[in-house]
Amino acid sequence: MKTRNKARIAHSKLNGPFHYNPALARPRTGQRAAEIQTFGTIAKLPNALSETVCRQSVERLNQILVDTMTLRDLYKKHHWQVAGATFYQLHLLFDKHQDAQAEMIDQIAERIQSLGGLSYAMAADVAENTNITRPPKGREEVPVQISRLLAAHEIILQEARAAARKAASLGDDGTNDLLVSGVIRTNELQVWFLAEHLVDTPQVIAQ
Ligand SMILES: [Fe+2]
Repeated sequence: MKTRNKARIAHSKLNGPFHYNPALARPRTGQRAAEIQTFGTIAKLPNALSETVCRQSVERLNQILVDTMTLRDLYKKHHWQVAGATFYQLHLLFDKHQDAQAEMIDQIAERIQSLGGLSYAMAADVAENTNITRPPKGREEVPVQISRLLAAHEIILQEARAAARKAASLGDDGTNDLLVSGVIRTNELQVWFLAEHLVDTPQVIAQ
């Protein structure tokens, strides 16, 4: 009798039936298989929207998603690299805006999924598809940082307004609501907070 069987019998006498299979406890790593859904397709859900409507909303939302992910990263870059007399306030402001953008990213991506689509997720796919100009790796002055952020916000606002109108005309009210109440309002507010930093007001002596 093998030692393992002896151990099994000894154990079963003490604690009742016992099946020891070390293979079950071993993680099955390195697994691969075919995708269960191809990017760009719709896995139709019973949401009372046609597949055509879902596809159109998903395409627009995915563009807004990759641009919002790029804007989020631009905020983090500037949060880390900001310099000058306004370092502290901008360091905090950039991170606050970044947090709000990150929250919206999750909402946009999950809206795409709830329409039966597939959201972009990985950095390489974001880089390939964003409409926002890539900044240099190096550090830039505050007015340049803010100008880049404003340009990115404006691209997203243009896309979001067009997508919101289209979603409303297609009867996709959920997407319209997310775009109007979430994306558009948040971006408009952040544009205001940023743009006011580029007004050249006297700091000490009135002109
Ligand atoms: Fe930080």
